Parts: sequence; structure tokens; C-alpha cells
Amino acid sequence: MSGFNAHVLVCDVVRDDGIHCGNKGGIEVKKQLIKTLADRGLNSDVKVTSVGCTSQHKPCATDQCSMIVYSSNNEGTWYRLNSDDIDLFVEEHLVNGNKVEHLVNEEIKVNLKS
Ligand code: FES
Repeated sequence: MSGFNAHVLVCDVVRDDGIHCGNKGGIEVKKQLIKTLADRGLNSDVKVTSVGCTSQHKPCATDQCSMIVYSSNNEGTWYRLNSDDIDLFVEEHLVNGNKVEHLVNEEIKVNLKS
């Protein structure tokens, strides 16, 4: 990942059952994230890629998707958010280096063992 300050993995998986992230907002989240980074001149600092299903789509609300961010110290943060949250996410997490606690996926935080 040399050359990037952060890597954002957005789940945009689409399935016929309609409950996966791409069915519920993941595609819009990825598009909005790429646009926001470009508008702010950050697209060369942040790598954005799609990620496959990580089994977090069921807890997501109807317009949310699962997103994982690796930034300082390669620490991963799992979020559940929608495209309306992207401005806040970019400003707080990617620019200021603060997690947006109310968007953090608390279920995966509880289930991951250190
Ligand atoms: S489809 Fe996104 S976590 Fe399963």
C-alpha cells in the first residue's frame, strides 16, 4: 500500500436476495467516497477498492453498507454507513484522524478477538 495514507474497502456486493451491501447503498457509498476525495484533492492519498462480503450486511440498516478503513498504524476500523455520512467520514477519519464513533460497526468490534 505504499504511496497511500489510507485504504478504504467498501462492500458493494449485489445479490438476488436484496439484503447485501450493494443492494442497500454500497454502490452509492463507493461513488460518493471517490467523488468527495477527488473534490478535496485527496484521491492520490486514499486508495478505494471494493471488498467482498464480510457477513456484516444483515446488521446494516436498509440504506447502509459495510466499510473497512486501514489508516495510521495499519489499524482497521469497521464502519456501517450510507452515502450521506461520507463528508463527515472523510473530514473526521481521513483528514483529522478521528474515528466517527457513532458510525463504527459495534458488532464486529465486539466479535473480534485481540
Ligand atoms: S454484502 Fe457487505 S458485508 Fe455482506
